[in-house]
Amino acid sequence: MASGYQSCAQNPFLAGTSASGSLFYLKDHNIMSLNFTGRVAIVTGAGGGLGKQHALALAARGAKVVVNDLGADVHGDGGSVSAAQAVVEEIRAKGGEAMVNGASVTDYEAVKAMVQQTMDAWGRVDILVNNAGILRDKSFAKMEIADFRLVMDVHVMGAVHCTKAVWAIMQAQNYGRVVLTTSSSGLYGNFGQANYGAAKMALAGLMQTLSIEGEKHGIRVNCLAPTAATRMTEGLMPPEVLNALQPQAVVPAMLVMASEDAPNRTILCAGAGSFEVAHITLTQGLHLGLHDDTAEQLAAALAQVKDPAGQMVPLSGSAQGGHEIAMALAAHSA
Ligand SMILES: NC(=O)c1ccc[n+]([C@@H]2O[C@H](COP(=O)([O-])OP(=O)(O)OC[C@H]3O[C@@H](n4cnc5c(N)ncnc54)[C@H](O)[C@@H]3O)[C@@H](O)[C@H]2O)c1
Repeated sequence: MASGYQSCAQNPFLAGTSASGSLFYLKDHNIMSLNFTGRVAIVTGAGGGLGKQHALALAARGAKVVVNDLGADVHGDGGSVSAAQAVVEEIRAKGGEAMVNGASVTDYEAVKAMVQQTMDAWGRVDILVNNAGILRDKSFAKMEIADFRLVMDVHVMGAVHCTKAVWAIMQAQNYGRVVLTTSSSGLYGNFGQANYGAAKMALAGLMQTLSIEGEKHGIRVNCLAPTAATRMTEGLMPPEVLNALQPQAVVPAMLVMASEDAPNRTILCAGAGSFEVAHITLTQGLHLGLHDDTAEQLAAALAQVKDPAGQMVPLSGSAQGGHEIAMALAAHSA
């Protein structure tokens, strides 16, 4: 058996107690299961929706889980730790280990205290799933700056706070798995979600650099772009569609990105049991040089510059600059 893996049959907790039937596809198909025994995970916003399913699944596979949730409503108002406490109790009732934390991810001091609480109890942090989030949807024309700022604060600074608070620990361990929850609203846009889309795309940018900086310390950073029926999507889709979009159907993507064999620097999309990868690609483009009419030439050649044939995914930002320089040098030497 490959190290770090165990069959479902060897783990009684895996073998038949989770409410999530979809988790058992591994057992049914007799595939080795992803095992998190001995791992410590923090899941933010885990009192309900996707975060709850992430926490249950990690615990079901052996991880000790900090179930963080401020207990806010979908707009970020209010606060009660009772939903997160209920998730902890559900995990414990099934034989797993979990503890509750009610920090707001927007409060860096409270986040640092959460990480200290984790270290005091379990001595390490292997996995951070940045999942907490809110919505303040309105068309940009009607959106208040305060609603823009709050959404940025919860999604972007929330993930920054949590990731920063575990980063040195993961570096010292030479091991860490960080999942940032992005969204198709950020990757591709959605009417009424300028604040949310900007915040979610910022997380993809954060992932791009953290995955580069973390690599030599054994830290892998990836983005999850989920689609699920939660209170966030209530009323947006017909019942039969919402039924297909169980949050549990997203969880396998999180488990892969939290696992020992996780990829690095991947934007994994997941919904209704389907999975895709989103790439931020660069077209081959065109070298036009610097002339009085370069703008006119570019306007005329825009379709060619946009042509996706031969597009690539640069390994870093400087690789994109390198592509431009290489085209310029090739044009000069021709
Ligand atoms: N549901 C979808 O289709 C979808 C699509 C794309 C992205 N997402 C993202 O997935 C994540 C989970 O969303 P969900 O659909 O499960 O929504 P949800 O509202 O059910 O869950 C979000 C959780 O975050 C908690 N939370 C909010 N602000 C917090 C704060 N400051 N500190 C700690 N916890 C806080 C809430 O109390 C709630 O339990 C979010 O980041 C969301 O943006 C969801």
